[in-house]
Amino acid sequence: MKESLSSRAEELRKQLEHHEYLYYVLDQPEISDAEFDRLMRDLRELEESHPELRTPDSPTQRVGGQPREGFVKVPHSSPMLSLDNALNEGELRDFDGRVRGLLKSQDYQYVAELKLDGLSMAAHYNGAQFRQAVTRGDGRVGEDVTENARTIRSLPLRIRKSPAGAAPFEVRGEVVMQRRSFERLNQERERAGLAVFANPRNAAAGALRALDPSITAARQLDYFSYFLLEDGRPHFDSHWKSLEALAAAGFKVNPHRRKCANLDELLEFIREWETKRDDLPYETDGVVAKIDSVPQQEALGWTAKAPRWAIAFKYPPRQASTILENIEVQVGRTGALTPVAHLKPVSLSGVTVSRATLHNEDEIARLGVEIGDTVLVERSGDVIPKIVRVVEHGAHRRPFRIPKACPVCGGHIVREEGEAASRCVNTNCPARLRESLLHFASRGVMDIDGMGDALVDQLLSRGLVHNIADLYSLTVDQLLELERMGKKSATKVIHNVDASRAQPLARVLNGLGIPFVGERTAQFLANHFGDLDAIAAASPDILQEVNEIGPKVADSICEFFSEQRNRDLIERLRAAGLRFTGPKQERQEGPLNGLTFVLTGTLPTLKREDAKQRIEAAGGKVTGSVTGKTNYVVAGEDAGSKLDKAHALNIAILDEAGLLNMLDSQAEG
Ligand code: IVH
Repeated sequence: MKESLSSRAEELRKQLEHHEYLYYVLDQPEISDAEFDRLMRDLRELEESHPELRTPDSPTQRVGGQPREGFVKVPHSSPMLSLDNALNEGELRDFDGRVRGLLKSQDYQYVAELKLDGLSMAAHYNGAQFRQAVTRGDGRVGEDVTENARTIRSLPLRIRKSPAGAAPFEVRGEVVMQRRSFERLNQERERAGLAVFANPRNAAAGALRALDPSITAARQLDYFSYFLLEDGRPHFDSHWKSLEALAAAGFKVNPHRRKCANLDELLEFIREWETKRDDLPYETDGVVAKIDSVPQQEALGWTAKAPRWAIAFKYPPRQASTILENIEVQVGRTGALTPVAHLKPVSLSGVTVSRATLHNEDEIARLGVEIGDTVLVERSGDVIPKIVRVVEHGAHRRPFRIPKACPVCGGHIVREEGEAASRCVNTNCPARLRESLLHFASRGVMDIDGMGDALVDQLLSRGLVHNIADLYSLTVDQLLELERMGKKSATKVIHNVDASRAQPLARVLNGLGIPFVGERTAQFLANHFGDLDAIAAASPDILQEVNEIGPKVADSICEFFSEQRNRDLIERLRAAGLRFTGPKQERQEGPLNGLTFVLTGTLPTLKREDAKQRIEAAGGKVTGSVTGKTNYVVAGEDAGSKLDKAHALNIAILDEAGLLNMLDSQAEG
């Protein structure tokens, strides 16, 4: 019996792996999604009733990891370098000339590949099993994102035949987000009043570094491999062979690649893809040309930053000029006003562009743009077009001014010192309320399926909800009164509202809509305090002990919880049965464990946030003020009273180099 169950599990795993390969790597599914889901459910049920049958590389384990506090740093087997760019044909000719000169009279070939607009990641395999994934980081040391990478369906967790024999090997490649997933994500974020991602690359980077792997999974990343290494060196003597071996082993390798015998063939490939790339489901921003022969690559060598045997040809950004017809002001969840440009529709490589963001008043002033002007718009990697400059003043141009009253509620508009955005200060502004409800209900926050624009607008106009807590007293009968709402969907929405009470603390915190507290900060807060009341009671100093929280965010949190209306809201959410507690997570282990640092003054190379993050990643704590508990003060230029206090209390003082030394002992150790 046992025997047959275990072979049944293995059989299911094999089938699922095969269909994942067909679907996610080759894009040629042979069974329906429903059939695939059924196989997955069978395996999951089997593993649930017999946990001993569960293997770490099982297809069910793609979403299993727990949220973490941060990522562990991992040194790379060999540096993950960048590429030099060629911005035009002339620069490419220069590159080819240099290669020819260095290779003397030898023949050489190029491999032309598309330059995928994502972020590079190394994946380590133990023979046939996926073991670890590491981001590029600074090229020398990256971050361990294994649990998140597991959720990428085109990254095999187990391969049938290792491309490098029995030895451990490493694959390097690009993590990308397909346009479709990107657009869906941005639509959701826009609805939720969150800042949209400028391009799929940023969205992919955010997803890969999400603290909660279930968020990475929801963002549907894709992985294309382009290097096969053993002990940090290419396994084969030809790059082309590596790509073929990777593909044969079940990795996703971009099919749009070509061996080019000379510069002209390379240029042909580049020209061909300049327009064809618009039809691909993912973004490409150029072509990478690599010398095929590995011995020749080694002879050409590297500079400190990039190999001399490869170059990235970058396509110019797509630009067109059109007329700025109007500027509309949108009011976001926090009341921030965003000017949005309405353009006379213009086609930019197949995409009709009619809107562009103008960010804020400063940006409008910088561009010197007025309504009626002809402007140059550009889409580079960024999907949201931007206005590059004014081409011609309009005959009847008129300047834009941020309104003195909120365009939605007529409330006061203020612009605080040091802030780029003007805000509507009316906390009851319908625009703010609408956005905050949509944010609260959105996917990744409280996940209340069915609570979209149409429903929220009706709930607001009928006065059925005035804040997020009101959602929890809605009834099926109330919903039945609304347009386009049948018994079945009304029941479903109420069910989803009910189910959202079980969402973890981090989601509740995110859902509250505290300015500057998004998904990531909410997760850090939840991990650190494990209790909403403790967060509400914390002083700015205590809040700054949390990962990545600086004075601005700490003040914003305090201000939020000090307002009576927010306190009332929280009491009603508590009464509705939302989760106000969660598991506390231990700080990360590291050589700086138990040590408390204070940063003061300007460091020569590290930004303060980076220094803080690195100390915390090594297990240390960063606080705002020097006390008897402080172990080290890291002082840069123009350090002020904190340094004096450190002297007075006889506390050890470090400069940036001293800090880096302490951190480095971690990377090696
Ligand atoms: S080769 C040392 N191949 O472009 C070799 N990179 O500008 C560097 N990229 O960091 C990588 N598509 O993130 C290579 N087919 C491709 C690529 C590619 C995209 C990215 C990669 C790299 C960056 C360099």
